[in-house]
Amino acid sequence: MNILENVSNHRPILIQGAMENEIDVLIAALQNLEAVTIHGFEFYSGLVSDTPVVISRTHIGKINATMATLIGIENFHPSFVINQGTAGAHNINLNTGDIVLGKQIINMDAPDLDIKALLAGIDKKTSEPLNVELQKDGNWDWTYALSSSEELSSLFQSVPYSHGILYEGTIASGDGWTQTKEGVRKLHERYGSDCEEMESFAVAQVCEQSGLPYVVLRIISNSNLQGTTFDERTAGLCQNFVIDVLKNHPAMIQK
Ligand code: 5AD
Repeated sequence: MNILENVSNHRPILIQGAMENEIDVLIAALQNLEAVTIHGFEFYSGLVSDTPVVISRTHIGKINATMATLIGIENFHPSFVINQGTAGAHNINLNTGDIVLGKQIINMDAPDLDIKALLAGIDKKTSEPLNVELQKDGNWDWTYALSSSEELSSLFQSVPYSHGILYEGTIASGDGWTQTKEGVRKLHERYGSDCEEMESFAVAQVCEQSGLPYVVLRIISNSNLQGTTFDERTAGLCQNFVIDVLKNHPAMIQK
């Protein structure tokens, strides 16, 4: 049986990570593993405690994440999407190992313009910093922030996590890595962001347009504000937490 037939009877959960060390623990936990590459993107199907899942490596950055998410949705017809992985802190109180659940997900690369006003010939700077044109609930509109499904967020919050706190906050996605304390402070002031990473807004935008629920969780792996550099172990902790959630909530699977 090939990977596509394998998932056609059940809608799997699409679980994403950008880097190899953000999907390796999940892949190791798969029973009946099958791998396929579509347009260069790697997908691994199988079962985690009887739950059908497809692990997807999105690779780094919002454009890759956009492609991987759409390819994943079109080929595997998931019931929902979990985007997980590492992030850098924008909130000084967050420590390595803490997990941020994306109550708000914003695009730091969105134009800093009131495009609607400019197109109408009105010469004004917007007070709203971000405007992304996207389709939500079937209508094209301008949006500042997207949100993880509340139902999925509460499932994640109901499972104990012992390597830090589980925090509902604002995740900022950008195609870059902010290198300085000053840079991080400015972004935090501007967006109220708790952490930064490079994929989740793209995933959220594709899911919104596809009418699919999604949840974004990001583990703090580094903090300029605290002077800590990338701790690779956090990528494994985040994946193990996802596995714990799947084990604790077998009912969330079959939709
Ligand atoms: N800034 C940007 N991306 C980060 N990542 C981890 N920490 C940071 C950070 N401080 C994640 C991104 C990307 C990879 C480089 O690591 O999401 O996938």
